[in-house]
Amino acid sequence: MVQTLLKRAATLFAVVALVAFAAPELAAQQINPTESSVQEEQLMRALQSGEAVSGRITIPDARAGDLIKPDNKNWAATHGGTVKTVNVVAILGMLALLVGFYMYRGKIRIDSGPSGRTIQRFNAVERFAHWLLAATFIILALTGLNLLIGRAVILPIVGESAFGTISAWGKIAHNYLAWPFMVALVIVFVAWVLHNIPNRLDIEWLKKGGGLFTKGSHPPAKKFNAGQKLIFWSVIIGGAALSFTGVMLLFPELAGTSAQWQLYQVIHAIVAGIMTAIIIAHIYIGSVGMEGAFDAMGSGQVDVNWAKEHHSIWVEEKLAREGRPAPSSGGAAPQPAE
Ligand code: HEM
Repeated sequence: MVQTLLKRAATLFAVVALVAFAAPELAAQQINPTESSVQEEQLMRALQSGEAVSGRITIPDARAGDLIKPDNKNWAATHGGTVKTVNVVAILGMLALLVGFYMYRGKIRIDSGPSGRTIQRFNAVERFAHWLLAATFIILALTGLNLLIGRAVILPIVGESAFGTISAWGKIAHNYLAWPFMVALVIVFVAWVLHNIPNRLDIEWLKKGGGLFTKGSHPPAKKFNAGQKLIFWSVIIGGAALSFTGVMLLFPELAGTSAQWQLYQVIHAIVAGIMTAIIIAHIYIGSVGMEGAFDAMGSGQVDVNWAKEHHSIWVEEKLAREGRPAPSSGGAAPQPAE
């Protein structure tokens, strides 16, 4: 009973709004647009059958004339269904894979042990760009995920008031941090693109699984191995897709029709989920998963034995360029103070 009354009230409100503000000629099939007044039942039928109902308006934004758009329902269903599923499966799936990998392989050690001698791997500009990209991406990923699954996951834990505050600040952070993310993406692209062009070594590296699954196996690599190239191109292509669709979402008038805006929104959220899963694997290998890796982005100096095992050709070429003797097996050329 109460439900019926509420339904009727909502319908009446919709009719009044259309008549008062939009001077409507209802366009759905079963409603005659030239009829002088609109019957409540007609509107109710259109609401239930999910047909489009649009009115004639005099302001420039044509989309404001749409009262009911079936596309919106499809989009809402995709957003709450497929998009959520892709994100949850990609992220939880990657976490499960990494737990399995850790149980199988443990932490990847420097096989010949640390030499205690270091070599410069990344300069200050490269590290600044990397950490700007990393910090902004992590906040963007968390605040984006909050929009997608925060109601189900965070709200029950922190309560409505805190969730409201978190989400409001999260939305602001998401909108503004997108810009430094894009700047960092461009710097990273310019700095590393030449080192990430695929070559024949990559095929060998991939055939041997990068030596990641076998202790003591280290396929040769230059500055970046095939695995890192895959990360690099995922970040660049995924980041560019996120940037483009994100700008469209921020400025709907650039996006075109509302159907196009909705498409950008779905692409944005799916690319973000896949990229987040890939980056979780990257963070694992770049920190706790591999001995000696973090230093490359921490101090910029890596142990020479680590470099010899993971980037053998890069070490040889770099030392030759610097006029320092190539390291012998298990040892390394001393590093002058910089
Ligand atoms: C706490 C988080 C992170 C850690 C600990 C981390 C660590 C590292 C390390 C150690 C390297 C250098 C690897 C080497 O010497 O060869 C690296 C490279 C790189 N990082 Fe990160 N990173 C993090 C987050 C991110 C994020 C969020 C992104 C992008 C959205 C990113 C993108 C890259 C790219 C493109 C490279 C070069 C390719 C590669 O080495 O895979 N990193 N990172």
